[in-house]
Amino acid sequence: MNELVFSTNNQHKVEEVQSKLQGLCKIHTLAEYGCTDDIPEDHDTLEGNASQKSHYLFDKYGCDCFSDDTGLEVEALGGEPGVYSARYAGEAKDPEANMAKLLQKLNGASNRKARFRTVISLIIDGEEHLFEGIVNGKILTEKHGEKGFGYDPIFQPEGYDRSFAELTMEEKNAISHRGRAVEKLYAFLKDYSQKKQ
Ligand code: IMP
Repeated sequence: MNELVFSTNNQHKVEEVQSKLQGLCKIHTLAEYGCTDDIPEDHDTLEGNASQKSHYLFDKYGCDCFSDDTGLEVEALGGEPGVYSARYAGEAKDPEANMAKLLQKLNGASNRKARFRTVISLIIDGEEHLFEGIVNGKILTEKHGEKGFGYDPIFQPEGYDRSFAELTMEEKNAISHRGRAVEKLYAFLKDYSQKKQ
């Protein structure tokens, strides 16, 4: 079985990803590697950041590893907040302030199309591979629901009449940007390990 280090200490993300990679590979967190570094992510694209985090781990530990980076891209705002989604309203990374800023910017806008996009960078046997997951939807005019995190209460995925924050975790994971990127990672790893045998 593959062993991969995931460049996060977010237990929620680890569980979500581990459940999708069940039986195929074992995921280790940064904490298990004793890594408490504040890994830099100072690029201006999701691809750049994901890649930077994976290379940081690979250079330091020489391990097979992967990293993810996600952004909410709003069409009427030219793809904003995108790579700056976490700190859209400032360094405090406050989800309430981020949502308030976005709702304010879209006040009265008729085009509310948006998408979440996740990029995963995998480094395995020293080679990098990128995977992308997208979920299309729209930004609601006000918050709905209590579940989830980040922008979930104001994002409604296409084909649903509820926000991400009103879906169960299972419903969200089945269609989410991160879920879709991890499915591509899964397919790649499955194929890769079969070829190696
Ligand atoms: P990260 O790259 O996964 O840390 O995501 C960056 C930022 O995008 C987060 O701080 C959230 O604001 C937002 N975000 C990422 N994934 C989600 C999601 O599934 N729902 C809502 N917001 C998200």
